[in-house]
Amino acid sequence: MIVVKLGGSLLSSEAWKQVVREAASMGTVILVHGGGHRVNSLGQRYGVEQKFVTSPEGYRSRYTDWETMEFFSMVMRGLVAMDILREMRACGRDAISLTGLDMGLIRGERKKRLVVLNERGRRMVIDGGFTGRPTHLRADVLTGIMSSGAVPVIAPIICGEENEPLNVDGDRLAAFIASRMRADALVLLTNVPGVVLDGQVLNKIDRSNYDAVLQRVGNGMDKKLMAAREAVEGGARLAVIAQGSSENAISRAISGASGTVVTWT
Ligand SMILES: Nc1ncnc2c1ncn2[C@@H]1O[C@H](COP(=O)(O)OP(=O)(O)OP(=O)(O)O)[C@@H](O)[C@H]1O
Ligand SMILES: [Mg+2]
Repeated sequence: MIVVKLGGSLLSSEAWKQVVREAASMGTVILVHGGGHRVNSLGQRYGVEQKFVTSPEGYRSRYTDWETMEFFSMVMRGLVAMDILREMRACGRDAISLTGLDMGLIRGERKKRLVVLNERGRRMVIDGGFTGRPTHLRADVLTGIMSSGAVPVIAPIICGEENEPLNVDGDRLAAFIASRMRADALVLLTNVPGVVLDGQVLNKIDRSNYDAVLQRVGNGMDKKLMAAREAVEGGARLAVIAQGSSENAISRAISGASGTVVTWT
């Protein structure tokens, strides 16, 4: 069983359709999607301001207050998921779109507070908003869907302790699912050919070079590296970060023909 994260960065071109078509032709596969870029561009079009925060460690992420969550869920669970389901239908493959709230599929904890840097670079504590991290997965729900031949298509929204929707990072969510399901592989597909250092794609990351590599990558890739590590430490056999816009991107990534492979042996 393979878990594929379809990067939101692929949604701005036609590349994602190829990924969905390949997933539609596979046996047991779970698709997790992002869509942050789409949320941002639609936010601009509809005049809904998107907020971002930077952690003291320098990680930038979306700040999800309730207004942002309203819009985020409309785009993610609405437009992005619908586009993917349309493409699955065109391939004749059954697929079902889910969030963590559906059947209590993925539950988690809300981040009560966030430590962020203000405009002057000073640390400050703010309310966590509607963001969280996954802690529980109903694997039986996914297994049931897959045994009926359908592909679960999962948006990065989980169910909080008060049944509130929580925004989670798509890469980390895919990693969580891959580790709990003991996936054969987690494939993180994005708009770059893997982890690029000094202009070259790094083929392999393991315990020995992980920390050094993490320090040298920028926003977007940092989350993928952390996700890949969580997946392989947690029970997935391997994780690959690869470009989604090439032909047979998923199978090429799994076979090691493209991308950066992360293992933890
Ligand atoms: N060392 C690096 N090698 C490759 N890409 C890097 C590196 N450092 C930073 N990046 C950035 O990471 C980006 C990919 O992450 P990003 O979060 O933007 O996309 P995504 O995860 O596919 O989309 P989404 O977060 O919406 O699902 C690349 O487009 C690139 O700009
Ligand atoms: Mg990303």
